[in-house]
Amino acid sequence: MSDVLRSRRSCMAVPGSNTRFLEKAQGLAADQVFLDIEDSVAPIAKPEARKNIVEVLNTGDWGNKVRTVRVNDWTTQWTYRDVIEVVEGAGANLDCIMLPKVQTAAQIIALDTLLTQIETTMGYEVGRIGIEAQIENAIGLINVDEIATASPRVETIIFGPADFMASINMKSLVVGEQPPGYEEGDAYHYILMRILMAARAYDKQAIDGPYLQVRDTDGFVKVARRSAALGFDGKWTLHPDQVEAANEVYSPLQSDYDHAENILDAYDYFTSAEGGAKGAVMLGDEMIDEASRKMAIVVSAKGRAAGMQRIDVWAKPEA
Ligand code: GLV
Ligand code: MG
Repeated sequence: MSDVLRSRRSCMAVPGSNTRFLEKAQGLAADQVFLDIEDSVAPIAKPEARKNIVEVLNTGDWGNKVRTVRVNDWTTQWTYRDVIEVVEGAGANLDCIMLPKVQTAAQIIALDTLLTQIETTMGYEVGRIGIEAQIENAIGLINVDEIATASPRVETIIFGPADFMASINMKSLVVGEQPPGYEEGDAYHYILMRILMAARAYDKQAIDGPYLQVRDTDGFVKVARRSAALGFDGKWTLHPDQVEAANEVYSPLQSDYDHAENILDAYDYFTSAEGGAKGAVMLGDEMIDEASRKMAIVVSAKGRAAGMQRIDVWAKPEA
């Protein structure tokens, strides 16, 4: 598992059975791609999708994108072949395996064990390939803490709204929108917060799932803003138009990024012997202390992961 915070503002879904999309996805500005063998691929097309995915991972140009493959969940007959074929075939050019419909910690441990065996057999670094866990039903949400901590490979906890809505009998077919009869408040608030608490408690990224009205970018932005406001790290994108929107919504504002970096520099300086070894200090008109530093670290890490550059730079006082 990578120690570097990977940027996952936009996580582009690409069906493994569509070779044109697999080519096109390489040129998008998405932070992450996940090449799918699960629900966007018909059962009879899955063997071909595995082959396509191995081929594009090994020969494509993915730049700095996080490269993930979504396999089928453990209740199907396909999971073991998905993992073995993809990781044996392209493990050196792959960052994570996404496991959908995770219900228990045991399902993560099973994937971890299989990955370790393949890595060992193939001579890959053991433990490098991460796991992304999709929470898509009530039992998965109830077990989310154990799922998050089941393996050090787990990097993200992902909300899967479509399957989740079906799993809890929500009275709506429009993924991401509020169900009719629940016009005030956010019917997804509890689920999002529960996932976010597990992610933050155990140092994982929290990722929001898809918005299926792919031509409605305003609708996408509205839904994305909600999870971004809570603290989510990114969201799935299903269409190139959603990528730019996600990158913007889940990035810090330039002014917030500058401010965060300035807090870190000023705090570093003033708490040092040279700066007077103070605990609470003034940055302009604002008092900052250890708690400000902690908030600044979060914003700064997201900005740095997104490749942001500071524009307004704090200057150390003249000696
Ligand atoms: C994604 O997999 C979803 O079910 O929303
Ligand atoms: Mg799903």
